[in-house]
Amino acid sequence: MSAHEDIKRITAPDIRARKGGEPIVCLTSYHAHTARLVDRYCDVILVGDSLGMVMHGLETTVPVTLEMMILQGHAVMRGSRRALVVVDMPFGSYEQSREQAFASCARVLKETGCGAIKLEGGRRMAETIAFLVERGVPVMGHIGLTPQSINTIGSFRAQGRDEADWGPIEADAKAVADAGAFAVVIEAVAEPLGRRISDALAIPTIGIGASVACDGQILVLEDMLGLSPRVPKFVKRYGDLGPGIEAAIAAYAKDVRSRAFPGPEQVYGMRPKAPKAPKRLIGS
Ligand code: KIV
Repeated sequence: MSAHEDIKRITAPDIRARKGGEPIVCLTSYHAHTARLVDRYCDVILVGDSLGMVMHGLETTVPVTLEMMILQGHAVMRGSRRALVVVDMPFGSYEQSREQAFASCARVLKETGCGAIKLEGGRRMAETIAFLVERGVPVMGHIGLTPQSINTIGSFRAQGRDEADWGPIEADAKAVADAGAFAVVIEAVAEPLGRRISDALAIPTIGIGASVACDGQILVLEDMLGLSPRVPKFVKRYGDLGPGIEAAIAAYAKDVRSRAFPGPEQVYGMRPKAPKAPKRLIGS
């Protein structure tokens, strides 16, 4: 019997049913400790492949592996109880064939216990999304700017800023929804296009640099906390944790160097000795 049975986790169908309702709050998390905090306020926690850049200092998300995603997905599941946990499928783990995608997704669902996966791509992934959904894999789509395609698109630029470019992006959104995705992330597109796609789709849209008209919003946690050195235009900083963390580290280093740490409160004393039993004399 689970110790958490009184708290019901949000499911992919629950999120699907939120179309047009109260905005869906989403953030990324890669660790048990941050997942615990995010879980109190968010409907969806995304274990994004942005962890490659945020945790590992990689230039892009392309080198991220399935093993990295599974390790952090499992950590986030252990740290959270209520939110739907969605794990990103990393580049190279799902594009080759529908069968490859199913095998990778099945590993993620089984080994992390998460409730859904996310994958990038519109029309080109529609057949795969339908194949996965038919076989029990809840899929969140991701269209607009798709960072795993950096080597073919050349830069992390906003999409659809000329109306002439809207057609393919709208077709991507429709293809993902028609294929059975329960929601779709729309990243870095011109605001009127984000709004138009949200109005047209029957599934919830989750915006990141898209439009306030989206059914939900997502940001990378470290970006909104002020821990990332460079952030895209669409990030609003809700905290400035960098200077606070640096001040704490500097104070610790100073205390260690001056032997002010550890103090008497942080060290273990000896147990009081038990009083010795008086020696008994033979015959007494
Ligand atoms: O990897 C990630 O964190 C993402 C979000 C930015 C949507 O895909």
